[in-house]
Amino acid sequence: MEHQLQSLETEARKSLEQLSDSGQLEEFRVRFLGRKGDFSTIMRQLGTVPAEERPRVGQLANSIKAEIERLFEGKKAALAATASGSAGKATPDLSLPGRCPAGGKLHPITLVMRETCAIFENLGFSVAEGPDVELDYYNFEALNIPAHHPARDMHDTFYISDSVLLRTHTSPMQARIMEAQQPPLRVIAPGKVYRCDSDITHTPMFHQVEGFLVDKNISFADLKGVLTVFTRKMFEKELPLRFRPSFFPFTEPSAEVDIACVICGGEGCRVCKKTGWLEILGSGMIDPEVFKMVGYDPEVYSGFAFGLGIERIAMLKYGIDDIRLFYENDQRFLSQF
Ligand code: DAH
Repeated sequence: MEHQLQSLETEARKSLEQLSDSGQLEEFRVRFLGRKGDFSTIMRQLGTVPAEERPRVGQLANSIKAEIERLFEGKKAALAATASGSAGKATPDLSLPGRCPAGGKLHPITLVMRETCAIFENLGFSVAEGPDVELDYYNFEALNIPAHHPARDMHDTFYISDSVLLRTHTSPMQARIMEAQQPPLRVIAPGKVYRCDSDITHTPMFHQVEGFLVDKNISFADLKGVLTVFTRKMFEKELPLRFRPSFFPFTEPSAEVDIACVICGGEGCRVCKKTGWLEILGSGMIDPEVFKMVGYDPEVYSGFAFGLGIERIAMLKYGIDDIRLFYENDQRFLSQF
């Protein structure tokens, strides 16, 4: 019986080498490994083997069967590989489910931009858009920042020529609109702005929404009211807000508005630079000089203005700690919004 088993193995090896398609492979399986196949036939004689030799013969039989099975599986894989390699021969499996096209989503910046505009529109503001390529006059001069004014240094401006630049903020829209229209005005101006600056909280292009309101008897309290409503609506909770005295040439008095850092809860982290607060906007009462430049009488009219950074707000709203993620176009990031 041992002899029979060994020659079965040799024979199986030989016929496996010769066969070349899956039909022959199946014949091989039936002949050698099937229930009525050669191996089973030999095994039926196990009862005739003397009892003391049976364990050894049984073991040999098991290992020979395992070897034939291993050779069979190997050949099967090899045949499958050649079949899929030869193009056109393989029949497509029509029952497989199709691949779903990935659904498009709005970019988080677009979402926050639209939401910001919607909040101010509900407060009666109208929306105006202006050019990204701006005159030095509107970006600086008309906002009370004459040539050589030190405030120009803060802007890291991309100049195109001496008098043309990429706008560094959306504030030039204040001057453009006031020049063309008479109060009362309640306007927001969303758009892209550009500064030569890049780190975890700055990108060379980012988005701002400018807002301003001009009428008779407008006070700082009106500014506070509008901004408080905005932050409550945007963050859907009563986040602590801080008005910090500041300076902008086009507002007097000026304030920067901070919101409690929602990433660290005010404890201090790398996003809020360990302060617990995140600046979301600059604001103030429109400077009389700006009114004079557009021909409004500062004795009759007063107004407030603010400029907020959309990326900052989006980072806070969604708990994102690196602004550059917005512009890397990583689907794994973008598909979460
Ligand atoms: N334009 C300023 C900036 O980008 C932000 C700003 C501050 C806008 C005060 C305003 C304002 O309208 O009143 O840094």
